[in-house]
Amino acid sequence: MTTTNFLPGGSHHSSRPIAINEGVKNESSVRLREQDIQEFLSKLEEEGEIETIRSHVGERFEAAAIMKEKDLGKALLFLSVGKYGRKVVANIFGKRRRISRALGIEEEKVHRHLLHALESPLKCKEVSSPTFQKVKPEELSMLPVLTHYEKDAGPYITSATVIASDPETGVQNASIHRLLAREGYFVIRMVEGRHLHQIFQKYKARGRDMPVAIVITPNPAVTVAAASPAPSGLDELQVAGALLGEPLRVVRLDGSDLSVPAEAQYVIEGLVSIEKTEKEWMTDILGTYDIPREQPVVKVTSIHRSSDPLYHAILPAGSEHRLLMGLPFEARILENVERIGIKVLGICLTRGSGSWLHAAISIRKNSEGDGRNAILAALSAHPSLKGVVVLDEDIDPTDYAAIDFSFATRFQSKGNLVVVEGARGSSLDPSADQRSMTTLKWGIDTTLSLSVEKERFKMAKIPGFDKRS
Ligand SMILES: Cc1cc2nc3c(=O)[nH]c(=O)nc-3n(C[C@H](O)[C@H](O)[C@H](O)COP(=O)(O)O)c2cc1C
Repeated sequence: MTTTNFLPGGSHHSSRPIAINEGVKNESSVRLREQDIQEFLSKLEEEGEIETIRSHVGERFEAAAIMKEKDLGKALLFLSVGKYGRKVVANIFGKRRRISRALGIEEEKVHRHLLHALESPLKCKEVSSPTFQKVKPEELSMLPVLTHYEKDAGPYITSATVIASDPETGVQNASIHRLLAREGYFVIRMVEGRHLHQIFQKYKARGRDMPVAIVITPNPAVTVAAASPAPSGLDELQVAGALLGEPLRVVRLDGSDLSVPAEAQYVIEGLVSIEKTEKEWMTDILGTYDIPREQPVVKVTSIHRSSDPLYHAILPAGSEHRLLMGLPFEARILENVERIGIKVLGICLTRGSGSWLHAAISIRKNSEGDGRNAILAALSAHPSLKGVVVLDEDIDPTDYAAIDFSFATRFQSKGNLVVVEGARGSSLDPSADQRSMTTLKWGIDTTLSLSVEKERFKMAKIPGFDKRS
């Protein structure tokens, strides 16, 4: 398939890359390939799903304010951001339909597609010509890293897929991590227990800094796979291949053990220090400030970029952040509820809870008690989950008003409310016990008893109405 670059021309301020792949013809500026994100962005543009911001926009708060204003709308393309007038894309995964579009799958099949990809990863295909080239180290300061919120520690890279190799097994891991940009180095937020953190502990035990590749704006499948909690020892780049339905093309970085997607807009190589740490703090998924945390410093060793790079910025707590974080956990909840024999018709980690703390699930009820069993399965699938509401199959879990209708007309607290005290909660919930990190969890079963006459509970319909919308 041939594509056209819908973003012609270079940034007027961009400096020329210096070639490192001697003897290898870099075709990126001439021919775009299907695994390049531009392929997907071209489709979005054809479908009128991209809004272009033509005026020059500042990196400090201004871009973030526009992203927040347009959070529920189209994907954004900023043509000129910051001192160096770099291109920035945002909100590309801000709607469920854009995520499914990126993966070439219908919206209602996304969760199952992801579960399937996690179970059947595809080996990557090594190629020799990436879409990026090594550039001068000074280019690091030209990245359009945004400062989002008033009291954040500083500018954060928010979309980066960080790749590291397990020193014990040699298996790679890819996960998204936010990086606080300091003068010439980063501070990386690594949540304890996540795979990158586990791998880092192994480097620490060996007394070696951890080599990482920080990939910005790869193919969407890479971002979705990297946001997914894959089982330990599974390379998320192989999951990306399964999502794409073809092996992900990767290149081995010169003088490194790391393989990265061959189609990416920026790749930064670095070493995560086992000695140096610094405090960082930022706005997290609930839109509240996280507590300051002492986190490792990343020394940058080289930077690569495409000839006219697109930098992907994700607004913390924006739709894109929430959906990318929530989607894999929705899939996990779906899987766990179906494992106990209950059919799930729809699942949604709700917006107000940061797509993280509360779930709404609609089920096909076959036995009395299915609603409560679904609550237990959901709470055990996602340790941060605080509350879950179970709905009948005619209620859309993505529709707040429909959920409220179900509360109002189908729920009586006695017997349908499950409360679990002192369970492990999310550190992001300021109302949880901040010392023990425990919380109260609840589940509400709004499903109707199988013995009641359903007609009395149904929404009245107007014939012909469905055809109008
Ligand atoms: C936009 C976004 C930002 C994220 N930021 C961080 C972060 O700063 N630190 C972190 O540990 N996890 C972060 N995550 C979550 C991890 O990327 C995610 O849980 C991933 O599945 C962990 O991978 P693992 O299975 O290799 O542990 C972020 C996810 C998204 C979607």
